Amino acid sequence: MSKTIAVIEGDDAAPEAVRPVVGLLDSLQLGLTWVYPEVGEAAEAARPSDAAGSTFPDSARAVIDAADTTLFGSTSGKSGAALGYLRWGKETFANVRPCRYLPGCASPLRHPEGIDFVIVRENLEDLYVGAEGPLADLAALNLVGRTIRKPVHELGDGRYAIKAITREGTERVVSFAFDLAAKRDGKRKLTCATKHNMLRGTDGLFLNVAREIAADYPDIEFESFIVDDFACRMIREPERFDVVVMPNQYGDILSDAAGGLLGSLGLAASGCFGSDYAYFEPAHGTAPDIAGSNIINPTATILSATMMLDYLGLETAAARIEDALARVYADGSALTPDQGGTATTTEFCAALAQAL
Ligand code: IPM
Ligand code: MG
Repeated sequence: MSKTIAVIEGDDAAPEAVRPVVGLLDSLQLGLTWVYPEVGEAAEAARPSDAAGSTFPDSARAVIDAADTTLFGSTSGKSGAALGYLRWGKETFANVRPCRYLPGCASPLRHPEGIDFVIVRENLEDLYVGAEGPLADLAALNLVGRTIRKPVHELGDGRYAIKAITREGTERVVSFAFDLAAKRDGKRKLTCATKHNMLRGTDGLFLNVAREIAADYPDIEFESFIVDDFACRMIREPERFDVVVMPNQYGDILSDAAGGLLGSLGLAASGCFGSDYAYFEPAHGTAPDIAGSNIINPTATILSATMMLDYLGLETAAARIEDALARVYADGSALTPDQGGTATTTEFCAALAQAL
Protein backbone atom coordinates (compact mmCIF):
# COMPACT_ATOMS: atom_id res chain seq x y z
CA MET A 1 0.00 0.00 0.00
CA SER A 2 1.47 3.31 -1.04
CA LYS A 3 2.00 5.99 1.62
CA THR A 4 2.45 9.70 1.09
CA ILE A 5 4.94 11.61 3.20
CA ALA A 6 5.06 15.39 3.36
CA VAL A 7 8.67 16.54 3.70
CA ILE A 8 9.64 19.86 5.24
CA GLU A 9 13.40 20.03 5.04
CA GLY A 10 13.69 22.86 7.57
CA ASP A 11 16.31 25.55 8.01
CA ASP A 12 20.11 25.96 8.13
CA ALA A 13 21.84 22.54 8.20
CA ALA A 14 18.64 20.49 8.59
CA PRO A 15 18.08 19.92 4.84
CA GLU A 16 21.59 18.44 4.60
CA ALA A 17 20.35 15.64 6.88
CA VAL A 18 16.82 15.31 5.49
CA ARG A 19 17.71 15.04 1.78
CA PRO A 20 20.01 12.00 2.00
CA VAL A 21 17.59 10.29 4.40
CA VAL A 22 14.73 10.71 1.92
CA GLY A 23 17.08 9.39 -0.78
CA LEU A 24 17.95 6.38 1.33
CA LEU A 25 14.33 5.52 2.11
CA ASP A 26 13.42 6.03 -1.50
CA SER A 27 16.10 3.56 -2.61
CA LEU A 28 14.42 0.84 -0.54
CA GLN A 29 11.38 0.96 -2.83
CA LEU A 30 8.81 0.88 -0.07
CA GLY A 31 6.16 2.49 -2.23
CA LEU A 32 6.56 5.87 -0.56
CA THR A 33 5.48 9.06 -2.30
CA TRP A 34 7.21 12.27 -1.24
CA VAL A 35 5.43 15.61 -1.41
CA TYR A 36 6.94 18.96 -0.51
CA PRO A 37 4.65 21.60 1.04
CA GLU A 38 6.11 25.04 0.39
CA VAL A 39 6.73 26.68 3.77
CA GLY A 40 9.06 29.21 5.37
CA GLU A 41 11.32 31.32 3.19
CA ALA A 42 10.45 29.38 0.04
CA ALA A 43 6.75 30.13 0.54
CA GLU A 44 7.48 33.79 1.22
CA ALA A 45 9.59 34.08 -1.89
CA ALA A 46 6.87 32.43 -3.99
CA ARG A 47 4.21 34.86 -2.75
CA PRO A 48 6.02 38.09 -1.89
CA SER A 49 2.79 40.10 -1.92
CA ASP A 50 1.12 38.02 0.80
CA ALA A 51 0.71 39.55 4.23
CA ALA A 52 1.38 37.73 7.52
CA GLY A 53 1.00 33.99 7.39
CA SER A 54 2.74 33.65 4.07
CA THR A 55 5.38 31.37 5.59
CA PHE A 56 2.65 28.78 5.93
CA PRO A 57 0.11 29.19 3.11
CA ASP A 58 -3.15 27.22 2.89
CA SER A 59 -1.70 25.21 0.02
CA ALA A 60 1.04 23.85 2.33
CA ARG A 61 -1.52 22.97 4.94
CA ALA A 62 -3.55 21.07 2.33
CA VAL A 63 -0.48 19.04 1.34
CA ILE A 64 0.14 18.09 4.99
CA ASP A 65 -3.53 17.22 5.53
CA ALA A 66 -3.59 14.96 2.49
CA ALA A 67 -0.38 13.13 3.43
CA ASP A 68 -0.18 10.10 5.75
CA THR A 69 2.49 11.79 7.84
CA THR A 70 5.15 14.51 7.78
CA LEU A 71 8.93 14.31 8.08
CA PHE A 72 10.21 17.62 9.40
CA GLY A 73 13.85 18.73 9.38
CA SER A 74 14.17 21.34 12.08
CA THR A 75 13.15 24.96 12.34
CA SER A 76 15.04 28.15 13.20
CA GLY A 77 11.95 30.30 12.90
CA LYS A 78 10.79 30.72 9.30
CA SER A 79 9.25 27.26 9.15
CA GLY A 80 7.95 27.67 12.69
CA ALA A 81 4.35 28.26 11.60
CA ALA A 82 4.34 24.85 9.91
CA LEU A 83 5.72 23.28 13.08
CA GLY A 84 3.00 25.04 15.08
CA TYR A 85 0.39 23.54 12.81
CA LEU A 86 1.88 20.04 13.11
CA ARG A 87 1.83 20.29 16.90
CA TRP A 88 -1.08 22.47 18.00
CA GLY A 89 -3.12 22.29 14.80
CA LYS A 90 -2.89 18.50 14.53
CA GLU A 91 -2.93 18.08 18.33
CA THR A 92 0.10 15.82 18.39
CA PHE A 93 0.07 15.64 22.17
CA ALA A 94 2.74 13.00 22.84
CA ASN A 95 6.32 13.77 21.89
CA VAL A 96 8.26 10.52 21.97
CA ARG A 97 12.05 10.86 22.33
CA PRO A 98 14.01 7.62 22.56
CA CYS A 99 17.45 7.51 24.15
CA ARG A 100 19.14 4.23 23.24
CA TYR A 101 22.86 3.55 23.31
CA LEU A 102 24.35 2.44 20.02
CA PRO A 103 27.70 0.67 20.59
CA GLY A 104 30.29 2.87 18.91
CA CYS A 105 28.64 6.20 19.61
CA ALA A 106 30.67 8.79 21.51
CA SER A 107 28.91 8.64 24.86
CA PRO A 108 30.70 10.61 27.59
CA LEU A 109 29.68 7.93 30.11
CA ARG A 110 32.01 5.17 31.22
CA HIS A 111 29.23 2.58 31.09
CA PRO A 112 26.60 3.64 28.57
CA GLU A 113 25.64 0.02 27.83
CA GLY A 114 22.06 -0.66 28.78
CA ILE A 115 20.78 2.88 28.16
CA ASP A 116 17.43 2.33 26.52
CA PHE A 117 14.69 4.64 27.69
CA VAL A 118 12.10 6.87 26.07
CA ILE A 119 11.01 10.30 27.18
CA VAL A 120 7.33 10.96 26.50
CA ARG A 121 6.95 14.68 26.67
CA GLU A 122 3.52 16.30 26.86
CA ASN A 123 3.65 18.38 23.71
CA LEU A 124 0.94 21.05 23.80
CA GLU A 125 0.43 22.50 27.28
CA ASP A 126 2.47 23.69 30.24
CA LEU A 127 4.40 26.93 29.77
CA TYR A 128 4.28 26.42 26.01
CA VAL A 129 0.66 27.51 25.64
CA GLY A 130 2.33 30.82 24.86
CA ALA A 131 0.25 33.03 27.14
CA GLU A 132 2.57 35.75 28.44
CA GLY A 133 2.08 39.38 29.27
CA PRO A 134 2.96 42.31 31.52
CA LEU A 135 2.63 41.63 35.26
CA ALA A 136 0.64 44.85 35.51
CA ASP A 137 -2.16 43.19 33.51
CA LEU A 138 -2.76 40.85 36.45
CA ALA A 139 -3.76 43.68 38.79
CA ALA A 140 -7.48 42.95 38.46
CA LEU A 141 -6.88 39.39 39.67
CA ASN A 142 -4.88 40.51 42.70
CA LEU A 143 -3.06 37.16 42.69
CA VAL A 144 -0.94 36.67 45.78
CA GLY A 145 2.08 34.39 45.37
CA ARG A 146 2.25 31.38 47.68
CA THR A 147 5.95 31.86 48.33
CA ILE A 148 6.57 35.54 47.76
CA ARG A 149 3.35 36.50 49.57
CA LYS A 150 2.73 39.65 47.63
CA PRO A 151 0.29 40.44 44.83
CA VAL A 152 2.29 39.48 41.76
CA HIS A 153 1.46 42.71 39.91
CA GLU A 154 3.23 44.59 42.71
CA LEU A 155 6.51 42.75 42.19
CA GLY A 156 7.70 45.41 39.77
CA ASP A 157 7.97 45.96 36.06
CA GLY A 158 8.01 42.50 34.54
CA ARG A 159 6.15 39.79 32.69
CA TYR A 160 4.33 36.58 33.46
CA ALA A 161 3.90 33.29 31.61
CA ILE A 162 1.00 30.92 32.15
CA LYS A 163 1.70 27.29 32.95
CA ALA A 164 -1.44 25.39 32.02
CA ILE A 165 -1.83 21.70 32.89
CA THR A 166 -5.22 20.16 32.17
CA ARG A 167 -6.63 16.90 33.44
CA GLU A 168 -7.58 15.77 29.92
CA GLY A 169 -4.21 16.74 28.42
CA THR A 170 -2.41 14.87 31.19
CA GLU A 171 -4.65 11.81 30.99
CA ARG A 172 -4.03 11.32 27.30
CA VAL A 173 -0.27 11.69 27.44
CA VAL A 174 0.09 9.50 30.52
CA SER A 175 -2.14 6.80 28.98
CA PHE A 176 -0.05 7.00 25.81
CA ALA A 177 3.12 6.55 27.89
CA PHE A 178 1.69 3.53 29.75
CA ASP A 179 0.58 1.97 26.45
CA LEU A 180 4.09 2.49 25.11
CA ALA A 181 5.62 0.86 28.19
CA ALA A 182 3.24 -2.09 27.71
CA LYS A 183 4.33 -2.50 24.06
CA ARG A 184 8.08 -2.25 24.61
CA ASP A 185 9.93 -5.34 25.64
CA GLY A 186 11.83 -3.22 28.08
CA LYS A 187 11.72 -2.97 31.83
CA ARG A 188 7.94 -2.45 31.90
CA LYS A 189 8.19 0.64 33.98
CA LEU A 190 6.81 4.16 33.82
CA THR A 191 8.56 6.99 35.59
CA CYS A 192 6.87 10.35 36.09
CA ALA A 193 8.99 13.47 36.65
CA THR A 194 7.39 16.68 37.94
CA LYS A 195 8.14 19.59 40.26
CA HIS A 196 5.07 18.91 42.39
CA ASN A 197 6.74 20.05 45.61
CA MET A 198 6.81 23.65 44.35
CA LEU A 199 4.12 23.61 41.66
CA ARG A 200 1.48 21.88 43.73
CA GLY A 201 -1.45 22.90 41.58
CA THR A 202 -0.10 22.27 38.09
CA ASP A 203 2.58 19.58 38.45
CA GLY A 204 0.64 18.22 41.41
CA LEU A 205 -2.29 17.60 39.06
CA PHE A 206 0.00 15.95 36.49
CA LEU A 207 1.39 13.58 39.12
CA ASN A 208 -2.01 12.80 40.64
CA VAL A 209 -3.47 11.97 37.24
CA ALA A 210 -0.46 9.74 36.52
CA ARG A 211 -1.00 7.93 39.84
CA GLU A 212 -4.69 7.43 39.04
CA ILE A 213 -3.97 6.02 35.60
CA ALA A 214 -1.27 3.74 37.02
CA ALA A 215 -4.06 1.78 38.69
CA ASP A 216 -5.29 0.76 35.21
CA TYR A 217 -1.87 -0.74 34.40
CA PRO A 218 -1.10 -3.17 37.22
CA ASP A 219 1.54 -4.94 35.09
CA ILE A 220 3.61 -1.80 34.63
CA GLU A 221 5.68 -0.59 37.54
CA PHE A 222 5.06 3.07 38.34
CA GLU A 223 7.43 5.45 40.11
CA SER A 224 7.76 9.20 40.37
CA PHE A 225 10.58 11.61 41.09
CA ILE A 226 10.89 15.33 41.56
CA VAL A 227 12.27 16.42 38.22
CA ASP A 228 15.58 17.80 39.52
CA ASP A 229 16.24 14.51 41.31
CA PHE A 230 15.26 12.70 38.10
CA ALA A 231 17.78 14.77 36.12
CA CYS A 232 20.56 13.57 38.41
CA ARG A 233 19.41 9.95 38.23
CA MET A 234 19.08 10.12 34.44
CA ILE A 235 22.81 10.85 34.27
CA ARG A 236 23.96 8.64 37.14
CA GLU A 237 21.86 5.54 36.40
CA PRO A 238 20.18 5.98 33.00
CA GLU A 239 19.94 2.23 32.43
CA ARG A 240 17.27 1.87 35.11
CA PHE A 241 14.66 3.86 33.15
CA ASP A 242 12.19 2.57 30.58
CA VAL A 243 9.46 5.10 29.71
CA VAL A 244 9.51 8.50 31.39
CA VAL A 245 6.56 10.89 31.16
CA MET A 246 6.76 14.57 32.00
CA PRO A 247 5.21 17.97 31.32
CA ASN A 248 6.26 19.86 28.22
CA GLN A 249 9.11 22.09 29.40
CA TYR A 250 10.97 19.46 31.44
CA GLY A 251 10.65 17.07 28.51
CA ASP A 252 12.04 19.67 26.14
CA ILE A 253 15.09 20.27 28.33
CA LEU A 254 15.72 16.72 29.50
CA SER A 255 15.37 15.18 26.05
CA ASP A 256 18.29 17.32 24.88
CA ALA A 257 20.19 16.25 28.00
CA ALA A 258 19.36 12.63 27.15
CA GLY A 259 20.90 13.21 23.71
CA GLY A 260 24.03 14.35 25.55
CA LEU A 261 24.17 10.99 27.36
CA LEU A 262 24.70 9.36 23.98
CA GLY A 263 27.30 11.89 22.99
CA SER A 264 25.40 14.23 20.74
CA LEU A 265 22.08 15.75 19.86
CA GLY A 266 22.78 14.29 16.45
CA LEU A 267 21.43 11.01 17.84
CA ALA A 268 18.19 12.36 19.32
CA ALA A 269 15.18 11.20 17.31
CA SER A 270 11.63 12.30 17.93
CA GLY A 271 8.06 11.65 16.87
CA CYS A 272 4.94 13.60 17.82
CA PHE A 273 1.74 11.54 18.06
CA GLY A 274 -1.87 12.67 18.17
CA SER A 275 -5.12 10.70 17.97
CA ASP A 276 -5.21 10.73 14.18
CA TYR A 277 -1.92 12.22 12.99
CA ALA A 278 1.75 11.89 13.75
CA TYR A 279 4.81 13.63 12.42
CA PHE A 280 8.50 13.01 12.87
CA GLU A 281 11.42 15.36 13.41
CA PRO A 282 14.84 15.11 15.04
CA ALA A 283 14.94 16.66 18.53
CA HIS A 284 17.95 18.81 17.62
CA GLY A 285 17.91 22.33 16.22
CA THR A 286 19.08 23.56 12.84
CA ALA A 287 22.81 23.68 13.67
CA PRO A 288 23.46 27.03 11.92
CA ASP A 289 27.15 26.85 12.90
CA ILE A 290 27.73 23.91 10.56
CA ALA A 291 25.22 24.80 7.82
CA GLY A 292 26.67 24.23 4.36
CA SER A 293 29.57 22.09 5.56
CA ASN A 294 27.97 18.66 4.96
CA ILE A 295 28.93 17.32 8.39
CA ILE A 296 25.59 17.27 10.19
CA ASN A 297 24.99 13.87 11.79
CA PRO A 298 21.89 12.49 10.05
CA THR A 299 21.36 9.77 12.69
CA ALA A 300 18.61 11.69 14.52
CA THR A 301 16.78 12.17 11.24
CA ILE A 302 17.30 8.51 10.29
CA LEU A 303 15.95 7.29 13.63
CA SER A 304 13.01 9.70 13.37
CA ALA A 305 12.39 8.26 9.92
CA THR A 306 12.44 4.69 11.26
CA MET A 307 9.89 5.73 13.90
CA MET A 308 7.87 7.05 10.98
CA LEU A 309 8.15 3.75 9.10
CA ASP A 310 6.92 1.93 12.23
CA TYR A 311 3.97 4.31 12.37
CA LEU A 312 3.20 3.60 8.70
CA GLY A 313 3.22 -0.15 9.33
CA LEU A 314 6.60 -0.67 7.64
CA GLU A 315 8.24 -2.22 10.70
CA THR A 316 10.43 -4.64 8.76
CA ALA A 317 12.07 -1.85 6.79
CA ALA A 318 12.50 0.19 9.97
CA ALA A 319 14.22 -2.72 11.72
CA ARG A 320 16.46 -3.29 8.71
CA ILE A 321 17.62 0.33 8.72
CA GLU A 322 18.24 0.34 12.48
CA ASP A 323 20.22 -2.83 12.15
CA ALA A 324 22.37 -1.35 9.38
CA LEU A 325 22.83 1.83 11.42
CA ALA A 326 24.04 -0.21 14.38
CA ARG A 327 26.63 -1.83 12.11
CA VAL A 328 27.84 1.56 10.87
CA TYR A 329 28.37 2.68 14.49
CA ALA A 330 29.97 -0.59 15.54
CA ASP A 331 32.36 -0.37 12.58
CA GLY A 332 33.16 3.25 13.44
CA SER A 333 35.03 4.19 10.26
CA ALA A 334 32.33 6.44 8.76
CA LEU A 335 31.17 8.53 11.72
CA THR A 336 30.58 12.29 11.62
CA PRO A 337 32.71 14.75 13.67
CA ASP A 338 30.21 15.01 16.55
CA GLN A 339 30.90 11.29 17.09
CA GLY A 340 34.65 11.69 16.90
CA GLY A 341 34.85 10.73 13.23
CA THR A 342 35.93 12.59 10.13
CA ALA A 343 33.22 11.48 7.69
CA THR A 344 30.94 13.88 5.91
CA THR A 345 27.17 13.45 6.01
CA THR A 346 27.38 12.05 2.48
CA GLU A 347 30.05 9.52 3.46
CA PHE A 348 28.06 8.44 6.53
CA CYS A 349 24.95 7.90 4.40
CA ALA A 350 26.94 5.99 1.80
CA ALA A 351 28.24 3.67 4.55
CA LEU A 352 24.69 3.16 5.75
CA ALA A 353 23.48 2.41 2.22
CA GLN A 354 26.34 -0.07 1.92
CA ALA A 355 25.41 -1.73 5.21
CA LEU A 356 21.84 -2.06 3.96
C1 IPM B 1 12.08 20.81 20.33
C2 IPM B 1 12.40 22.24 20.08
C3 IPM B 1 11.10 22.98 19.96
C4 IPM B 1 10.42 22.87 21.32
C5 IPM B 1 11.18 24.42 19.50
C6 IPM B 1 11.85 24.55 18.16
C7 IPM B 1 9.80 25.05 19.47
O1 IPM B 1 13.22 22.73 21.07
O2 IPM B 1 11.44 20.19 19.47
O3 IPM B 1 12.45 20.29 21.38
O4 IPM B 1 10.70 23.62 22.24
O5 IPM B 1 9.59 22.00 21.45
MG1 MG C 1 13.91 21.22 22.38
